[in-house]
Amino acid sequence: MIESEMSMNKIVIHGGRPLTGNVTVSGAKNSIVALMPASILADEPVVLEGIPEISDVYSLINILQIMGAKIYFAKGVLTIDPRGVKSIPIPSGKINSLRASYYFMGALLGKFGKAEVGLPGGCNLGPRPIDLHIKGFEALGASVSDDKGVMYLRIRATNLVASRIFMDMVSVGATINIMLAAVKAKGTTVIENAAREPEIIDVATLLNNMGAKVYGAGTNEIRIEGVSKLHGTRHSIIPDRIEAGTYLAIAAAVGEGVTVENVLYEHLESYISKLEEMGVQMTIREDSITVHSNQNLKKVNVKTYPYPGFATDLQQPITPLLLKSCGQGELIDTIYECRIGHVPELKRMGANIRVKDNRIIMDSTSELVGAEVVASDLRAGASLVIAALIAKGVTTIYNVEFILRGYDRIIEKLTNLGADIALVDTESSCKEKAKIEEGR
Ligand code: UD1
Repeated sequence: MIESEMSMNKIVIHGGRPLTGNVTVSGAKNSIVALMPASILADEPVVLEGIPEISDVYSLINILQIMGAKIYFAKGVLTIDPRGVKSIPIPSGKINSLRASYYFMGALLGKFGKAEVGLPGGCNLGPRPIDLHIKGFEALGASVSDDKGVMYLRIRATNLVASRIFMDMVSVGATINIMLAAVKAKGTTVIENAAREPEIIDVATLLNNMGAKVYGAGTNEIRIEGVSKLHGTRHSIIPDRIEAGTYLAIAAAVGEGVTVENVLYEHLESYISKLEEMGVQMTIREDSITVHSNQNLKKVNVKTYPYPGFATDLQQPITPLLLKSCGQGELIDTIYECRIGHVPELKRMGANIRVKDNRIIMDSTSELVGAEVVASDLRAGASLVIAALIAKGVTTIYNVEFILRGYDRIIEKLTNLGADIALVDTESSCKEKAKIEEGR
């Protein structure tokens, strides 16, 4: 069995070094965490290409193996043979290690008409309800109950029947979960006010390649004509737009000519237009973007919205770049108000940054200096890596397992660009972290 590579490591960065060269973006984390559960809907092996080496993938492999799938994973190609999969209860310990494992709810319901799944975990972004997922399952004829005292949801349907479902809020997870549950339901399901993220198109493409009939993915109305069987297929995953946005921020902050490869401009239009508003000089090509050396960037205001708006997942990564820029600026996250775990840590690095009501405010340029900091979640961790690359001196980042959940070979990629960065794997790292937390 392939074990998840979680451990209490730390990342040590000597900041202030200019970066140059090329960095290639990996397959999208938010796609793969849906594509892997989606694969069990097939009656034959599914081959997924361009798999990022992130711990979320290993956690999902682990869950799939427990369910009875056969897994082959080498050189970025993952084969999932779902023929032995059974709808067994998925342990909440496994499910809690990553939130996106809630896609097994939709996938198991769609395949077997029943699912027992531990309530989801994931990043620490405050309350993350799943009422819309449940509303969708119920609309398809399922009954949903939770066992009191046990963090399990029991979802059952004798017959899944198509339905018209209006999403009260735009939700990526609920849109995908309903697609997975409805793909074999009798009749035509319509999801209105659906999320439009590229990862949703990626999941629909995989399902259609498996023989499903999903229309309109990428628009706010998705129609799913139920089919009785799904077959095996081969699918190449889309590039990770959030990883791309993270490297673009790094390139703008400390780059002296960095080319980000395997990036799709159309997935990042709102983000790139924000960088342009700041004065970041870029050359945009079909599948790569070169960021030129940048001085005297302007601070801007950022407000996150569902796709194609500015992604909430890029709010934290862009913060250090804003700190480095001149003037006044603020960030408002309309999707996750509590996504502010990076703020106190950036303050420890000398940032002029504060939270007022639901706004993150930066009044002036910040001279960042190295410090000992703790990542509170995946994108907060990315934010700290960028701040550390900018800062004078040495920064040590703890809780790096969050970062390794979503950034494929980040140490190697940044080292290749000329960063002085190391992943230190020591047990004493845990003790040191405990000391910092005590000292807070
Ligand atoms: C996905 C992404 C995550 C990203 C987020 C928003 C994956 C694996 N994760 O998360 O990286 O930050 O989209 O782009 O793709 N909501 C409800 N009820 C629900 C579901 C959601 O109220 O049943 C709310 C959430 O609290 C949030 C908003 O809807 O405020 C959007 O959440 P959603 O799009 O569902 O996020 P995730 O799918 O969990």
